[in-house]
Amino acid sequence: TTGNVTYDPGFVNTAATSSAITFIDGDKGILRYRGYPIEELAEHSSFLEVSYLLIYGNLPTPAELDAFDQRIRRHTMLNEDLKGFFNGFPRDAHPMPVLSSAVSALSTFYQDSLDPFDDEQVEMATIRLMAKMPVIAAYAHKKSIGQPMLYPDNSMNLVENYLRLCFGVPTEHYEMDPVVVKALDLLLILHADHEQNCSTSTVRMVGSANANMFASVSAGINALFGPLHGGANEAVLNMLRQIQESGEPVEKFVERVKNKEDGVKLMGFGHRVYKNYDPRAKIVKATAHEILEKLGGNDELLEIAMRLEEVALTDEYFVSRKLYPNVDFYTGLIYKAMGFPEKMFTVLFAIGRLPGWIAQWREMMKDPETKIGRPRQLYTGEPERMYPSR
Ligand code: SDX
Repeated sequence: TTGNVTYDPGFVNTAATSSAITFIDGDKGILRYRGYPIEELAEHSSFLEVSYLLIYGNLPTPAELDAFDQRIRRHTMLNEDLKGFFNGFPRDAHPMPVLSSAVSALSTFYQDSLDPFDDEQVEMATIRLMAKMPVIAAYAHKKSIGQPMLYPDNSMNLVENYLRLCFGVPTEHYEMDPVVVKALDLLLILHADHEQNCSTSTVRMVGSANANMFASVSAGINALFGPLHGGANEAVLNMLRQIQESGEPVEKFVERVKNKEDGVKLMGFGHRVYKNYDPRAKIVKATAHEILEKLGGNDELLEIAMRLEEVALTDEYFVSRKLYPNVDFYTGLIYKAMGFPEKMFTVLFAIGRLPGWIAQWREMMKDPETKIGRPRQLYTGEPERMYPSR
C-alpha cells in the first residue's frame, strides 16, 4: 500500500519507479492527474490549468493561473539565431526531428536554465519550454510549407498563439475559430501525462544522469516519434485512408490484421497498460462527431474508423487480447479537420505531453528515490572464453 493505492506484490516488483503525478488503472480504464479524474478535467479545466496542476501539484487559484499564463506569454519569442536553425533542414523534413533538435539547442541559448538543482533555473527552464516549444513546433510546420514564420502575439494564450503561428500569414488577419481552440485545448489536456510511458521514461532516464531539462525533453520527443507510441496517430490516418482507397470492406482489413499479414496492426488499438477502453479515447470519440460536424471533417474516414471499432470489439481475436481503441485512434481525424497535415499529428501529441514530461523530470530531480537510473540485465551471451593463440 502506498498510502492511497494497494498493489499486489507481483506488480510492485515490476514497477520501474514511484510517482505522485498520474494514476492509471489499466483494467478499470481509470486515469487521474494528481488525483483528479481525466473526465472531470476534460469537462471543466483548460490545458494551461492542467499543465499547472501536473507541474506544481495542485489546481491554481485564478491569480496563480493568470501569473503562470503571463510568465509563459512573456517567453514565447525565440532567440533570432535559433530561428536561423530551421534553414539548415531540408524542406520535407519531418517536424519531429526538427522539434527534438531545436529543443535540445535551447540548452545552448539559455545557459541560466540548466542546473537541475537550482529552483530558479528549473522554473526558468519550465516556463521557457512551455512558451517556446509550441513556437518551435509551429516554425517547423511553416518551414515544411515554405511560408514565413510569424512572431508570437502575447495578447493570446498558448493554444491561440499556437494556432495563429501554424495557420496565420503576415498578409492577413488570422480569424481564430473558437471551435478549433476548444477542441485543441481538450486534446492537449488528454495527452498531458500518462505515467511511465515510453517517452516519459526516456525523459526520466536521460534526466537521471542530471542532464538538463531541454536535453531530457528532446530525448522524450524522439521516443514519442516511434510509430508504436506517439507516431500511431499519424499511422491511424494512413491506415484509414488505405482502407478507403482500397474500397474493400473493413472486415477484409481486419482479417489481414488477424492473420498478421506483413506485420500489419490495427493502429490506434491496444495498449501496454489499458486492457480496457482507454478513457481518453472514450472522450475523444464522444466529441469527434460534434467537432467534425462543426469543422466539416472527413466523415467517410470517421465512418470507417467507427466501423473498424465495431468489428474489432466483437471479434474474438481482439477481445481475447484485450485490444481496445487507445487515445490515438480518433485524434488524427480531428487534427486533420483542424487543418493540420499528418506529419504534425505527433508534434501535437508532444505539445500536449510537455507538461507531463516537465512534471516527471522535476519530480525525479527532487526525489532521487524515483530515479530509474541504471537498470541491470540478465546475461544471455557466451560463457567466458580465451583469445585464440595464433
Ligand atoms: C500510446 O504507454 C502509454 O501510456 C502510451 C500512450 C501514452 O499516452 O503515452 O498511451 C500513447 O503510445 C498509445 C499506443 C499507440 N500505439 C498504437 O496504437 C500502435 C498499435 N498498438 C500496438 O503496437 C500495441 O497494442 C502496443 C504496442 C501499443 C501495446 O502492445 P502490448 O499490449 O504490449 O501487446 P503485445 O505487443 O504484447 O501484443 C499482444 C498480442 C500480440 O498477438 P499474439 O502474439 O498474442 O498473437 O496482441 C497483438 C499482438 O500481435 N496486438 C495487436 C495490436 N496490438 C497488440 N494486433 C493487432 N493490432 C494491434 N494494434
